Amino acid sequence: MTAMTPHRTVALPSGRTVPALGQGTWYMGDDPGRREEELRALRTGIDLGMTLIDTAEMYGNGAAEELVGEAVRGRRDEVFLVSKVLPWNASARGTVTACHDSLRRMDTGHIDLYLLHWRGPVPLEETVEALERLEREGDIGGWGVSNLDVDDLDQLPAGARPETDQVLYNLTRRGPEYALFPRCRELAAPVMAYSPIEQGRLLGEPALAAVAEAHGVSPAQVALAWVLRHEDVIAIPKAATRQHVEDNHAALRLELTDEDLRTLDAAFPPPARKEPLEIL
Ligand SMILES: NC(=O)c1ccc[n+]([C@@H]2O[C@H](COP(=O)([O-])OP(=O)(O)OC[C@H]3O[C@@H](n4cnc5c(N)ncnc54)[C@H](OP(=O)(O)O)[C@@H]3O)[C@@H](O)[C@H]2O)c1
Repeated sequence: MTAMTPHRTVALPSGRTVPALGQGTWYMGDDPGRREEELRALRTGIDLGMTLIDTAEMYGNGAAEELVGEAVRGRRDEVFLVSKVLPWNASARGTVTACHDSLRRMDTGHIDLYLLHWRGPVPLEETVEALERLEREGDIGGWGVSNLDVDDLDQLPAGARPETDQVLYNLTRRGPEYALFPRCRELAAPVMAYSPIEQGRLLGEPALAAVAEAHGVSPAQVALAWVLRHEDVIAIPKAATRQHVEDNHAALRLELTDEDLRTLDAAFPPPARKEPLEIL
């Protein structure tokens, strides 16, 4: 990390802090021919302070977790690992089994933050009980949810304190700003924005390109700086090359002006009413 690199952290309800800019891993670990480059990318991210790594049992049926385990070998203490249980595994027993399987694949003794990937057939109460049990037993450092809209959050058992809600949020998916962000603020749970560059589809948008050109930066950096303009939002872009990781990291140095924000608002208007939470 260079002396110039700003450190930005976000506090979780438990008091733990995590970097505002982390790394995603969906579609990583699938192709043996890309493995070395992916490992280098993740390790470069850790070197740069993007030490929150998001993965899930779903990604490549465990292949992404195995890749993450290899990437953090010998430096597990530097990293904040996030993983997720699939909804159909999220029963009292299934959650515990899924977590233990994830621990084995990542070759680690604990997952720092374990999320319900999305709401499924198991009652939320049963899943939360299992997550709290895993936390008591030290298998996980804390738990949270993903893809839960306001009404789902309201149906969590009384007293339940998720550490985050990981949701789809980027310039083209601004719906959460209207009701979900305020609800998460009431819970003091930072939102974790997934697909912050819309899986690459955002990068050709003319308004984004114009702002990027004005600053002499890449469109990806503008997309990430825009998500990170909220002090309590974490962004987890996925980058499978060192070049992309370094490019994304530089977004921490980019400060968007009021004029930039107006340009982006004109092209990607904020929500005027509650919209259903979108999912990828
Ligand atoms: N909870 C959920 O339901 C859920 C759903 C979706 C995603 N997620 C999590 O969020 C993470 C991020 O979302 P995502 O992977 O869907 O999409 P994303 O991060 O918005 O976009 C990833 C794509 O953007 C490219 N990219 C990254 N940095 C770039 C740069 N600086 N310049 C140009 N292209 C760049 C990547 O290419 P390369 O790979 O070639 O670098 C990849 O094709 C996932 O990996 C996963 O961990 C969670």
